[in-house]
Amino acid sequence: MPQWSRILPELDWIADGDLRNLVEKVWEDAFQLGGWHEDDLDAIPFTLLVKDADINLFDHTRIVTHLCRQIAGPLKEMQGLDINDDHLIAGALLHDVGKLLEYGKNGGEIAMARSGRLLRHPLSGMGLAVKWNLPEEVSHIIAVHSREGERSYRSPEAIILHHADFIMFESFKSRKEFPGI
Ligand SMILES: [Fe+2]
Repeated sequence: MPQWSRILPELDWIADGDLRNLVEKVWEDAFQLGGWHEDDLDAIPFTLLVKDADINLFDHTRIVTHLCRQIAGPLKEMQGLDINDDHLIAGALLHDVGKLLEYGKNGGEIAMARSGRLLRHPLSGMGLAVKWNLPEEVSHIIAVHSREGERSYRSPEAIILHHADFIMFESFKSRKEFPGI
């Protein structure tokens, strides 16, 4: 069984121990339902939309979680915005957990799975969060983080996560596709 606190050390940032445990349970459930092996984890790319994406799902999740914390700081301290840090960090750590169901191993290749065609990762991730009784605010962040949320209400925590995710993805994609510019 993977040691989630070693793979995602930012779990420690969640102050509520029950919530921290639930976040680990959701990752473990997705890992088992997706039929993954511990040795596979390093090789799971964070996206299939960029060819040869050499950042894995867990490094992406960590980068986005760090960005969320950095973005929340001045909004709380200088703007006086009320942010629930535990919900934000739990949502950041889980926003792409559904990719363990969206992707699968096709021979040696990691590719889109049937499940991923039917339910993209924001939907499958939200389903897992609801199944494990995470706070609705966390399920919300997962559900609306990508284009599925474009016509929906987004909480401030969901807005932060959505933009942090796209800052990471777009900046990575830009340098990867146009390395000389
Ligand atoms: Fe993401």
